[in-house]
Amino acid sequence: MEYRLIELDPEHPGFRDARYRARRDAIAHIALAYRSGDPVPLAPYSEEEHAVWQGIRQALAPVHQESIATPLLELERALDLDQERIPQLRDVNRRLRQGAGFSMEPVAGLVTPRIFMEHLGRRIFLSTQYIRHHSRPFYTPEPDVVHELVGHAASLLHPGICALSQAFGRAALKADAQDMERLTRIYWYTLEFGVVMEQGQVKGYGAGLLSSVGELERACSGEVPLLDWDLDAVCALPYDPTTFQPYYVLAPSFEQALSDIAAWLAVQS
Ligand SMILES: [Fe+2]
Repeated sequence: MEYRLIELDPEHPGFRDARYRARRDAIAHIALAYRSGDPVPLAPYSEEEHAVWQGIRQALAPVHQESIATPLLELERALDLDQERIPQLRDVNRRLRQGAGFSMEPVAGLVTPRIFMEHLGRRIFLSTQYIRHHSRPFYTPEPDVVHELVGHAASLLHPGICALSQAFGRAALKADAQDMERLTRIYWYTLEFGVVMEQGQVKGYGAGLLSSVGELERACSGEVPLLDWDLDAVCALPYDPTTFQPYYVLAPSFEQALSDIAAWLAVQS
């Protein structure tokens, strides 16, 4: 049996693609050899992988103009990620350091929420470098470089989101398993899939929305239930990461979302 560093679920779009699986393993090796604080190694992307990135960016651009919260749209313009070539984390980090000092460091795949948040506390955002399978460019069952860079990177230039990310990290340090579950749900329904009201319109600010054309349109469509802004209720809501979300949590404004989450976290830690 062939040795695989990265296991994929049989339902994964790349499960039967030997070439894709070899690429996943090669990029995972980069992350596994990485030591925190070293310069982030370059991921050598193929032309096919750049083309996947380009196709997703082209599809997302008009939807972002319409549907994402203004502070993130402005930061996205400031970050100005390449539209045609997959940016390297090393280059993105140069820009992030000019903000609140966050940097992205490579990981081979999904890490536990505790590990993820503890790194946030140290202003490190753990980021995958591989890209999703070309057969389904608008779907990924796991975070990939599109999710990390298009979804999260610009937000790491926002002082409020950086402070909040560090607060999640502080709370995680003291959290038992039950607390960790609550923290993870708050993060999920806000910084991953949150929506806000902005001048009478629903806008996305969560990274899972910013990196998915289908899910961003869906969240802002008015056709999916939007739950009231009540963080004590949100932290009791389980979630399913494998499919479109059945509802989204709507904050009255972007600013209030950040300040209320910060206040909620302050009580936890
Ligand atoms: Fe994410």
